[in-house]
Amino acid sequence: MSYYPEELLEEIRLHNDIVEVVSDYVKLEKKGKYYFGLCPFHNEKTPSFSVTPSLQIFNCFGCGKGGNVFHFIMNIENLDFQEAVKFLAEKANITLPEYDAGYDTERLRLKKEIIEINTEAARFFYRTLLSENGGAGRKYLKSRGLNADTIKRFGIGFSTGEYDSLKKYLNTKGYTDEKLVQSGLVIKSTNGAYDRFRNRIMFPIFDLRGNIIGFGGRVINDDKPKYMNSPETIVYNKRNSLYGLNFAKNANDKQVVIVEGYMDVISLHKYGIINSVASLGTALTESQGRLLKKYFEELIIAYDADTAGKDATMRGLDLLSDIGCNVKVLQIPDGKDPDEYIRTNGPEKFRLLMKKALSLVEYKISVYRKLFGDNTVDSKVKFLNAISQVLAKIESRIELEMYVKKLAGEYEISEESLYSEIAKYRKVKDTRMPRYYSANRQFKKSDELKTNPSYRDELMMIAVLVTDNSMYELVKNDIDANYFTNKELKAIAIELMGRLKEGKRVVAAEILNMFSEKTAGDFTRVLENECNFDENKKPLDIVEKLKKNRLEKRKREIFLMLKNRENLKEGDVERLTIELNTIVKEMKNI
Ligand code: CTP
Ligand code: MN
Repeated sequence: MSYYPEELLEEIRLHNDIVEVVSDYVKLEKKGKYYFGLCPFHNEKTPSFSVTPSLQIFNCFGCGKGGNVFHFIMNIENLDFQEAVKFLAEKANITLPEYDAGYDTERLRLKKEIIEINTEAARFFYRTLLSENGGAGRKYLKSRGLNADTIKRFGIGFSTGEYDSLKKYLNTKGYTDEKLVQSGLVIKSTNGAYDRFRNRIMFPIFDLRGNIIGFGGRVINDDKPKYMNSPETIVYNKRNSLYGLNFAKNANDKQVVIVEGYMDVISLHKYGIINSVASLGTALTESQGRLLKKYFEELIIAYDADTAGKDATMRGLDLLSDIGCNVKVLQIPDGKDPDEYIRTNGPEKFRLLMKKALSLVEYKISVYRKLFGDNTVDSKVKFLNAISQVLAKIESRIELEMYVKKLAGEYEISEESLYSEIAKYRKVKDTRMPRYYSANRQFKKSDELKTNPSYRDELMMIAVLVTDNSMYELVKNDIDANYFTNKELKAIAIELMGRLKEGKRVVAAEILNMFSEKTAGDFTRVLENECNFDENKKPLDIVEKLKKNRLEKRKREIFLMLKNRENLKEGDVERLTIELNTIVKEMKNI
């Protein structure tokens, strides 16, 4: 393992999408839920190498290599784990802690300094807001219903109309103009450097650990642009940041509300809805989606009710569900945004809206209903066609059946014809490897995976738990880490179950950090292939298997010992025979 803290490793992993990283080395082609390409680790003419974005793992059926993004970099760049961590941290612009001296110290020092500059600036803006120059800012914030507590919690401040007051202040603190320009707070011109943000309410933007990485500034009148944000800097990457996530991740909530703006997050917080984040005016990115998936089970999109908001909702829904998130849509009545709604109606009403949020399918049905709502035959056909494409993505047979029944009844068509319409769009039939790919191909399995069923079952148990964390609730009273006979897997199981017990979420790619190279390959194989979650989602059965495997192993040991009686001490024969009888009895009970 590694001397870096878990959280940091996760941050690095989450900021390095495996598809993007692998694409630097392998030409990938998307097929269904997978990307395929020629394996970079062995010679081949037809692709056996796949990347699964929803699980953030890679897998080669030809040579048996597999794992998460760290394993990929270790293998392809020939690095050890620490070096792979550094490599990917650098790629994602993430600062590694101090004790990592020696590695690109110049860049590290600069990142630290930029964060210091941002922190000093935030203090400056905050002090300004509370000073006699901050009257207009205070008045504005009051009009938006913010109190001193909220202002302090979010570190909100104010920049006056002066040309370069922040710049001058930071110069006195010892920061050069060059560094200030690099921080994005100052702009260079032929007449010298001046402040980027003037006459604006200042919202510091935090990273996951609470460092200030940038700012958003809002005008207090009708000037344009309404919002101005820090440019991308060595510490601020828009695609990877979510406003409010540093607070929301500690909310210990399974759901998170995704809103558009600073003020929405702040208002929701003020009313106790801490589990909210904003994507800050840009379209949601996959990287942001993966971050959210890591911390929350259910994502609720609550964008503004205007056209732009609706488009962004559709895009967000598709993007998030493609990377395997469970997404819903919260609809705010009367064209309000979350900030306006909660201020007018209070938190209970808002929580009610959260409860009533529509599933992806429900939402799309409602959108298409409006779009093709004029009751003509033509519109009905268009509606059913559009909705078939949506239904084609439903994996649960039961869920699909419910929608088909309902819609067929409503539109007075047969269920069969709706099913056949849906079938047209069902390209990849199940969540496993597409058949055309797996057919006729010899899957490379390690000898142990082939010959040792308890090893496979133990990998399967871990796979089930990380694929669906809620399974832990089902098995927790029956499972015992001692059921794991493989030492490495036992240690991983103990760690995994410990985290699940504390209510933490754990995903496959994360737990993979703990696997040795060989076991990582076997684990990805089980995740992708053996683990057929439609049929095998019977975790208690696997627990039974583990129990049985262990008893069988012990039984074999005892047989062997009894066979070589001459090596046994007095009384051993009797003791072992008793144990054997108990085992036989126990096995009957399973
Ligand atoms: N935004 C931006 N630049 C703009 C307009 C908007 O970066 N010129 C981003 C901001 O992060 C903003 C979010 O998009 O918070 C949502 O924009 P909008 O709905 O216009 O703003 P509100 O959050 O409703 O702002 P307010 O309530 O302060 O008017
Ligand atoms: Mn608003």
